Amino acid sequence: MAYNLLKGKKGIIFGALDENSIAWKTAERVHEEGGTFVLTNAPVAMRLGQINELAKKTGSQIIPADATSEEDLDNLVAKSLELLGGKIDFVLHAIGMSVNVRKGRAYTDEKYDFTTKGWDVSALSFHKVMQSLHKADAMQEWGSIVALTYMAAQRVFPDYNDMADNKAYLESVARSFGYFFGKKNKVRVNTISQSPTPTTAGQGVKGFDGFISYAEKMSPLGNASALDCADYTITLFSDLTRKVTMQNLFHDGGFSSTGVSQEVIEKFTEQ
Ligand SMILES: NC(=O)c1ccc[n+]([C@@H]2O[C@H](COP(=O)([O-])OP(=O)(O)OC[C@H]3O[C@@H](n4cnc5c(N)ncnc54)[C@H](O)[C@@H]3O)[C@@H](O)[C@H]2O)c1
Repeated sequence: MAYNLLKGKKGIIFGALDENSIAWKTAERVHEEGGTFVLTNAPVAMRLGQINELAKKTGSQIIPADATSEEDLDNLVAKSLELLGGKIDFVLHAIGMSVNVRKGRAYTDEKYDFTTKGWDVSALSFHKVMQSLHKADAMQEWGSIVALTYMAAQRVFPDYNDMADNKAYLESVARSFGYFFGKKNKVRVNTISQSPTPTTAGQGVKGFDGFISYAEKMSPLGNASALDCADYTITLFSDLTRKVTMQNLFHDGGFSSTGVSQEVIEKFTEQ
């Protein structure tokens, strides 16, 4: 169901790789709600992904950018302002990648070149995106910037590896930049802490199937899907949440507040 919540709003959406991506679902929902946007992803991901299909479906333009490259980001911001014909109301940062996870290096055996690369892609890139927008004075007053995170930033999930540290950094950047962006032109900055979701990035985590079933059983409302996350993101882009900023917002069916569920207890008392 559409509510026209984003009518007339313009934005940039990072991270739509394929139709499972949270950013993909968000782009579709933003389109349904009347928003227009530029789609962006790393040049290498564009060759692998199906972003052209999404662009066609949503009437969007694509501007490639490696989110670790300041030059690419400055170019993205300048071109987006031109293409969209005005300042930016919303930005979704949906980017994550750990080289240690990809290469099967344990948390206690990190290769630090891998760690640095993963941190740059998954965490520092959020600062780079915002710095680029800030310097270009590209954000509209009362605009909204959202990045996606996971609860491993607060509690240990061993196989989440160095992504836990990257997410803790990302959440801190949201608070710190949220202060400066709020002061500058009332722009809000938040992170959404999403349930495990079957996407390319999600399924890259070792033991993901166990992970997602456990979370499903621990969450009174069940796991939040990619589409649920898109819906929540729409509310944060809308004018209905103007005073929400510098927050890490759990979107996980209640997982983060549940100590144990009846289903999990039953698993441990099975004969
Ligand atoms: N899937 C989950 O279980 C889950 C749970 C909580 C949070 N998240 C977060 O949601 C966000 C989106 O991930 P997803 O699950 O939709 O997976 P996804 O694999 O569909 O998306 C990750 C995206 O990051 C992009 N990316 C990687 N390196 C990049 C770079 N250098 N520059 C620009 N883009 C780059 C990829 O191309 C891809 O589009 C990530 O931040 C992820 O950590 C995912």
